[in-house]
Amino acid sequence: MPSPAIDPTLTDRLRGKFVVFDGPDGSGKSTQLSRFIAAAEAAGLTVCEVREPGGTHIGEEIRKVLLDAKHEQSHPMDLRCEMMLFMASRAQLITQRVEPAIQRGELVIADRFISSTLAYQGSAGGLPIPDILAVGRVALGKYWPDLVVVFDVDEKTAQARMNPLLRGREFDASKDRIESKGDAFHRRVRQGYLEQAEQDPNRYLVIDATREPDPIYGDLISGISGKL
Ligand code: TYD
Repeated sequence: MPSPAIDPTLTDRLRGKFVVFDGPDGSGKSTQLSRFIAAAEAAGLTVCEVREPGGTHIGEEIRKVLLDAKHEQSHPMDLRCEMMLFMASRAQLITQRVEPAIQRGELVIADRFISSTLAYQGSAGGLPIPDILAVGRVALGKYWPDLVVVFDVDEKTAQARMNPLLRGREFDASKDRIESKGDAFHRRVRQGYLEQAEQDPNRYLVIDATREPDPIYGDLISGISGKL
């Protein structure tokens, strides 16, 4: 049984809610997400878990295009095209999975959502935030998340989690030009999440995810309980 457990008053408040787990690469959000879902199910909730991009047949096809483009140096994808593909997958996900689950009173938990697009294609990539929100209004309709949990990590911790070779060693960004270019991008991603949280503090919960899994999980439960 995962601890701390989700108590009955929080269980009631989670029914029919839409919660997003998000954060920079290497934030450890997926570990926390699995643990939270196990606790929610143990508390008697039916959980609809969705992962972006993908989660539907059409979304998985869009995911392939997005991932292929990543590896195709000779055919770089236009950033607006990339943003709209993420949003297209999201629109399908809303109609096919999120809306019906919320109407059944289930708890919807998404691994990444529009907050990722705002951070990666917006704050880090350079697309104007109002443009992303405008497309977002078309894609999401009335299904905006009730809560976005941001697992915040500094770049050194994130790097160490992503690259097992760096674990336990001093991280030196100056060693690799491409790696350090990646750092600048990831710094903007992190900053983007923090700015979103600052602008919408009722909907966002920022958790210091540099620590060990147990204290992070403790903050997650108390933070969700305080926000919902
Ligand atoms: P993936 O391996 O599916 O997931 P994760 O990092 O969550 O384990 O990678 C998804 C990548 O796509 C990740 O680097 C974030 C990025 N992304 C965007 O750039 N924009 C978006 O809207 C979404 C949903 C993801």
